[in-house]
Amino acid sequence: MTAEHVRQTNDKRKLVNQFSKKLVVAVLSCAAAVASVAAPSVADDAASTEPKDIADRTSPPDPVSELAKQQGYQFDGIRYRNKDGDPQYVVTKKYMVDWGTWQGFRRYHDACHVCHGPNALGSSFAPALKDSLKTMDYSTFIATVSGGKKENKGGTMFVMPSFGEDRNIMCYIDDIYTYIKARSTDAMPPGRPNGREDISDEARKANDDCTG
Ligand code: HEC
Repeated sequence: MTAEHVRQTNDKRKLVNQFSKKLVVAVLSCAAAVASVAAPSVADDAASTEPKDIADRTSPPDPVSELAKQQGYQFDGIRYRNKDGDPQYVVTKKYMVDWGTWQGFRRYHDACHVCHGPNALGSSFAPALKDSLKTMDYSTFIATVSGGKKENKGGTMFVMPSFGEDRNIMCYIDDIYTYIKARSTDAMPPGRPNGREDISDEARKANDDCTG
């Protein structure tokens, strides 16, 4: 793990922690309302735009970790990382993907698709992230999603919301990053992956801890 990566991870944790603290206050002051709003249904509702069966799809014997090994990616217990320590997708020739990329595919289509278009191809309103990530690095991506961005183009405001306090986004942002990154290199074609690795116990725990 590089110092830069640790810094990035810490920054992200800080954001999530800040949010957790605020949420605790919110829960205390308004338990009933928050409970109904914050009901942790997104994980499975995220599939609502997709046929129900995808979450249950199981992979044949898993070639993903094999490929990751060949490419020299490290598995940190939750996801693969490249030599810079950044989250890394693994996509096989048959479009089997690591868990993070799979999760990112689902989350992207739940949270970003509405503006950035299906398959990260962009829309009249927001840029094609498939192209943005050809050059945008990991920390800029995280900072943009967390802090938002806006631009006035010929009198029209184009607004990227800031998601820094939205746990349904920030808890999965590395997953979303790996999915879009895989789209940006064409490792991942349009559409849904053919299969996925299973989630690791550590990843499940990290998700649960983060989303509360
Ligand atoms: C409400 C619409 C909307 C949603 C939802 C949205 N975005 Fe955006 N996003 C935009 C707009 C508009 C821009 C361009 C802003 C600008 O030009 O300054 C943008 C810009 C970006 C950029 C910078 C792209 C570049 O080339 O500079 C990134 C990265 C990004 N969005 C990621 C995401 C991710 C990831 C999600 C889902 C978690 C998401 N956005 C959801 C509207 C949206």
